[in-house]
Amino acid sequence: MTVVAGLARRASRARNATTRSAPKGNGNVNGKRILLIIGGGIAAYKCLELIRRLRERGVAVRVVLTRAATEFVTPLSVGALTNERVLTSLFDLSDEQEIGHIRLSREADLLVVAPATADLLARMAGGHADDLATTVLLATDKPVLAVPAMNPHMWTHAATRRNVDRLAADGIEFLGPNEGEMAEGGEVGLGRMAEPHEILAAIAERLGGASGASAALAGRRVVVTSGPTHEPIDPVRYIANRSSGKQGHAIATAAAAMGAETVMVSGPTNLTDPAGVATVHVETAREMLEAVEAALPADVVVCAAAVADWRVADAAGSKIKKSKGKPVPKLDLVQNPDILRTVAELDAKRPPLVIGFAAETDNVVANAKKKLRTKGCDWIVANDVSAGTGVMGGDRNSVHLVTAKGVEDWPRMSKDEVARRLMERISKGVAKLRGAK
Ligand code: CTP
Repeated sequence: MTVVAGLARRASRARNATTRSAPKGNGNVNGKRILLIIGGGIAAYKCLELIRRLRERGVAVRVVLTRAATEFVTPLSVGALTNERVLTSLFDLSDEQEIGHIRLSREADLLVVAPATADLLARMAGGHADDLATTVLLATDKPVLAVPAMNPHMWTHAATRRNVDRLAADGIEFLGPNEGEMAEGGEVGLGRMAEPHEILAAIAERLGGASGASAALAGRRVVVTSGPTHEPIDPVRYIANRSSGKQGHAIATAAAAMGAETVMVSGPTNLTDPAGVATVHVETAREMLEAVEAALPADVVVCAAAVADWRVADAAGSKIKKSKGKPVPKLDLVQNPDILRTVAELDAKRPPLVIGFAAETDNVVANAKKKLRTKGCDWIVANDVSAGTGVMGGDRNSVHLVTAKGVEDWPRMSKDEVARRLMERISKGVAKLRGAK
């Protein structure tokens, strides 16, 4: 059995199982040093965003580009972000050629290889040292995190499985790959590089215990719902919606980054569990409610999940068969519990801050204001999910924050940015509540 099979089994166990415990730590990565080795793959562009975010958090980033990586990102753009000379070949170390690569590999707290292409993994597994990237990786005494990205067939190929097996046995850690659409030709499968916020969280988990610079929510407990729910029709069919879980996962990541003890209850998604977040995997609305209630008491609950409003009254225990002349089955639907309203209506266990989302296609703000009243929550984050906005499943969002005080229109920004801004607002809201106590 290969390690990839083992990893896949562990991943599927993690998906099916209940919780992962959150790591401890103060979340501070300020002053840490990363050596980022960028491999030659289309996903290399994501490293620019990663570098920016690491720098924002006070992390010093030194970059080695493989020769192939320079086809995808330029030393000039990387250098402008790191504020350091970008190294591409062994000869860049001409000043101290003998010890340069040793120093380079040891002056960092962590080495990150992203994208870890099939070729780079193969050369690492073979112990090659024929360029600066592999030489540094061979010379290091520091932990190495590999973030693979490649075509799904390359990832599942026996040769890559052997290499990953070998590297995992050598102590290299892996993040991803994620499942999703490939850059080339719309192919879908396991091979997409983890997103910058996921890499950042994984780095912070290893270096700082959580994923961010501030500990504004340290000592606070935040519960987040994310993703869609699946409501079974029979054992093979279900009712679902288009939610990707990106916004909810980003909120949980941001909460953990600010030092909160974070629990995320997620419906089925293709996303990696955020590092530093205790994730509970559920399928249905009723399971989601049960998991949220079990996660209370909390200081803040953010309901970002797109919960199915209805479920099939009597889901069939075995597959519904079609046969000629037999009538098409009629689905009798019943209402699902409203998780947000249930939490907002709790008495003693009601969290001080309960926040909902409003997914609307028409009269966005007016409907959100109505939801604030009918659901009894404190804030509503309203977003326009009409076809054409690209919000459902996309990476960007444009939201309005609706509170008892009024409406704030936020400019269009990435879902990660929305999450960070929201968590900053939440930390201020929680501080006020603390002051009021
Ligand atoms: N929500 C929930 N449980 C449900 C339905 C919705 O917790 N059964 C939460 C969502 O997570 C979100 C908010 O309620 O925070 C609003 O969800 P939305 O889908 O916009 O509204 P609905 O309540 O489903 O109403 P409608 O579909 O009629 O707009």
